[in-house]
Amino acid sequence: MTSVTELDLPAFDYSAPDLTGEVYHRRLAETRERGWLARGPLSYVVLDREAGEFFLRSRATAFPGREIADLFGVTAGRLREQIDANVLNQTGDRHRRLRALVGPAFTPRAADRWRPVMREFLTRLWDTTTGSGDFVRAVARPYPSMTIAAVLGAPVEDAPRLHEWSNLVQRQFDVRALSTELPRIETACAEVHDYVEALLAERRADPADDLLSALLAASGAGDRLSHAECVNLVVNVLAGGVDTTQAQLAHALRLFAAHPDQWALLAGDPAGRAPAAVREVLRFEPITPFTARICAEPVEFRAVGFPAGSIVAICAARANRETTDGDRFDITAERDGRALTFGAGAHYCLGANLATAELEEALAFLAPRMPGLRADGPAALGGVEGIYQVESLPLTWS
Ligand code: HEM
Repeated sequence: MTSVTELDLPAFDYSAPDLTGEVYHRRLAETRERGWLARGPLSYVVLDREAGEFFLRSRATAFPGREIADLFGVTAGRLREQIDANVLNQTGDRHRRLRALVGPAFTPRAADRWRPVMREFLTRLWDTTTGSGDFVRAVARPYPSMTIAAVLGAPVEDAPRLHEWSNLVQRQFDVRALSTELPRIETACAEVHDYVEALLAERRADPADDLLSALLAASGAGDRLSHAECVNLVVNVLAGGVDTTQAQLAHALRLFAAHPDQWALLAGDPAGRAPAAVREVLRFEPITPFTARICAEPVEFRAVGFPAGSIVAICAARANRETTDGDRFDITAERDGRALTFGAGAHYCLGANLATAELEEALAFLAPRMPGLRADGPAALGGVEGIYQVESLPLTWS
């Protein structure tokens, strides 16, 4: 067995300023040609699916949220409390218990219940569009926060505030933001906690048919959710459920604007083709291109030893393309293997069913209404080290 520290690995800098769009995928593909493992600024980078799944599913690894926080001096305060309590940073029995308690609220059937509300929001947003403009501002940005407001049982007028908080709290995973925007992130953490506390108090007095009431029903005595766990889970759902879906929907429209034949296919059978279209978008352009694991103990994989404390970034963006003709965007292709876009193993995305339903509803709604979809100028793309955002997406259609 060779220690990873002795290997001569290619460098891959996931925080390089020019790493976006086609440059990013090209650089990933070039690095992958040199092997399955690369060296990044703070971690090793795993580039293939089998290795990615191994590190995500291993019981000897954990999400390195606390370690990253330490590295950036986030050792106390509201953000640190949030990081310590985040479900993603829990392990073993504690994590299993939390997932078992909230799982029933996130099944495919539970997500399906919200589809009529999603369609209503899409109609409302669509009515303000004119035939061209920035798709992010018009639909991709407001839609997920309206949906999360409904799912949580918060007033839909609060959606813009939820969006703002989600965006900032989510930056705890973005190493660049941690070094430049810490005070804003801290403030957002405090505000969102106070907001969720107030919402829970309201719902406790007046239960309804929403996620908050379901979580409150799961809290109480014994092995149930504690109050603090309940508040934190709501914050996790809020933070994890807005920016992510926004980015994925914006990338979807960006991809379809560049592939008019695929868009026309979808428009021909929106309800029938939307599930495959969403799977292909998620595979081809995952908005969480990298997630990370730290080895809690020495780990061996493919005769390479990773000492305890090693951090690995798992690259879904490259792993997902390890399939026949994987660099081609094609909503009709039969793909082998699972995409890593929602992760794998114990921390597999809690909101995957909800996100998938939101994306399916959006694509099925939009495709027949936007014939002749095309770019109306260049898209402004974000960096790839946190959530791969589309800042603006000028589109036009006939
Ligand atoms: C396209 C949209 C989304 C993508 C690509 C995505 C991606 C991910 C990934 C990759 C993970 C696992 C991270 C890891 O293991 O290191 C994850 C976890 C998580 N996601 Fe999502 N997500 C999306 C939407 C959502 C939504 C809508 C919600 C909430 C309703 C949500 C809530 C969560 C939570 C709470 C976790 C932590 C689960 C745990 O630690 O057990 N996500 N997500």
